[in-house]
Amino acid sequence: MTARKIIIDTDPGQDDAVAILLALASPDEIEVLGITCVAGNVPLALTQKNARIVCELAGKPDVKVFSGADRPMNRTLVTAEHVHGKTGLDGPTLPDPAMLLQDGHAVDYIIDTLRAYESGTVTLCPLGPLTNIAMAFEKAPDIKERVQEIILMGGGYFEGGNITPSAEFNIYVDPQAADIVFKSEIPIVVMPLDVTHKALVTKSRNDAFRTIGTPVGHAVAEMTDFFERFDKEKYGSEGAPLHDPCVTAYLIRPNLFKGRHINVEIETQSELTMGATVADWWRVSDRAPNALFIGDLDADGFFSLLTERLARL
Ligand code: BDR
Ligand code: CA
Repeated sequence: MTARKIIIDTDPGQDDAVAILLALASPDEIEVLGITCVAGNVPLALTQKNARIVCELAGKPDVKVFSGADRPMNRTLVTAEHVHGKTGLDGPTLPDPAMLLQDGHAVDYIIDTLRAYESGTVTLCPLGPLTNIAMAFEKAPDIKERVQEIILMGGGYFEGGNITPSAEFNIYVDPQAADIVFKSEIPIVVMPLDVTHKALVTKSRNDAFRTIGTPVGHAVAEMTDFFERFDKEKYGSEGAPLHDPCVTAYLIRPNLFKGRHINVEIETQSELTMGATVADWWRVSDRAPNALFIGDLDADGFFSLLTERLARL
């Protein structure tokens, strides 16, 4: 198997951090060409710093990290410190990064990379608001047909929303960008709340991370300890959902996931339902399918993969 070439577009965020660690721990399946950062969970100055902290934690200071959009295309930035803490990576105490940001804007890096590699060989993995990706498509429409696939975390249908009653955070922050991406005609795989809420870190799963006994194992356990308090209180669940790692796990073991090819449209007009992902799960419209919308996963398989891979770092 040749490793899939990917660009991770991200707003770390503890769950983004775990998604990045999983990718960096899996070089046989995933080649991380670069990491592009966007404002989301916390402002851009923190997400780009956190991405570098995570690369250094993984022992991979050579990964290219780029800074991108500091706000959504057409709206005021909404952040999620209430979930992720003031730094976005609250929980473990991790050193400031020594590695530098790359020169140039994330949007230009995405464009240049898609143009540089053979068409159909680079996959985009957005883990935050879709601003950088949509801006790249607007600036250079020719790159759309060069993208192999987009595998993203965002949206929710049966689970409703987590930032408003009907919208999931990543889509809500920049619905215009999401609309551009979902209309791009690129093959898309969506990890909505419907599946990520099944990727729950129970106590025994978090103990397994801690038992790895390495700095990575401890840091991941402490990140989860921190952000689970929010979800436990909100949903009465056993632990926190690991949203974003579903994206990188899918690249390694797609068979852990089940979904349907359906039409997904983004609400961009109504303030009441802004950012809702209108997913035609029951195929009641004649709108053409534009995404593989995931609804289920083998949670035990997912957590054993994650624990086994994190132990490699
Ligand atoms: C998504 O929003 C962020 O809080 C998480 O990092 C994840 O990408 C979940 O709604
Ligand atoms: Ca995220």
